[in-house]
Amino acid sequence: MKPKIFITRKLPEEMVAPFREKYDVRMWDAEDAAVKRYVLLEEVKEAEVLWSVVSDAIDREVFETAKKLKIVANMAVGYNNVDIEAAKEHGVIVTNTPDVLTETTADLAFALLLATARRLYHAEEELRSGGWTSWSPMGYTGMDVGGATIGIIGMGRIGEAVARRATGFNMRILYHNRNRKPAAEEAYGAEYADMDTLLKEADFVVVLAPHTPETVGLIGERELALMKKTASIINVARGGIIDEQALYKALKNDVIWAAGLDVFETEPVPLNNPLLTLPNVTALPHIGSASIRTRIGMMELNAKAIHAVLEGREPENRVV
Ligand code: GLV
Repeated sequence: MKPKIFITRKLPEEMVAPFREKYDVRMWDAEDAAVKRYVLLEEVKEAEVLWSVVSDAIDREVFETAKKLKIVANMAVGYNNVDIEAAKEHGVIVTNTPDVLTETTADLAFALLLATARRLYHAEEELRSGGWTSWSPMGYTGMDVGGATIGIIGMGRIGEAVARRATGFNMRILYHNRNRKPAAEEAYGAEYADMDTLLKEADFVVVLAPHTPETVGLIGERELALMKKTASIINVARGGIIDEQALYKALKNDVIWAAGLDVFETEPVPLNNPLLTLPNVTALPHIGSASIRTRIGMMELNAKAIHAVLEGREPENRVV
């Protein structure tokens, strides 16, 4: 019997083909829907490999059901969707896909930063709906990015790539991280700041911390109140790090200027999420890593890790 691989999302056939000869490949193949929970639980029963994506909850129940599982290859850099403790207890390897997506995600962080500063979403909506009736001296005016202060919360690989972009915009760079990053301080002139100082002084707060019990709700009402009225907050990390209710109130009541969000507490974001009613919110469907080259690179890393484990080798990018 060939070892079974279950892939939770439809992949391009050229990514799957190399597995087909040696392995029994099963794949959830709906184009635009996440795998149904009962299908996942059924398919993992016999699977040695689970190829998951960021929207799949790979929780304890999955590990308890998947008696033959050797590896969860999670096609994302973040792995908060995988119960790491349960993986350890069941002796299952978990891998992720770092590095290939660093620059792409930093690009999107910067795109959101620029979009919120210059109100691009609001301005385009106006144009498309016929609201642009004349050129106006103060019409659609926003905030300058060049020379402003950026505050990066979470100075990992993506944080550093954002800092590098910020140097090109001649920005003052503050960062907050669990530990100091002397190399980033040296390379980008980044200054370490405690959270409150960063929130008070930054014109653009960019959240890039991982989703952990310590970072859930990290930015709430108190933190938003510390920010400047003219400042924006950008989240390309994970929903839940910013408290959405507190954010809604802060944006609605002009406590802060704008928010650029690629991630939400519930994804796909329900259309009745009040944040979507606000013109000073730019909202995107979790596309931080979504360039063609990067998504293929992520798939290649996943494939490599799976081949390694099935061939009895140590995979790269092992998180547990
Ligand atoms: C996407 O959110 C990722 O963690 O790669």
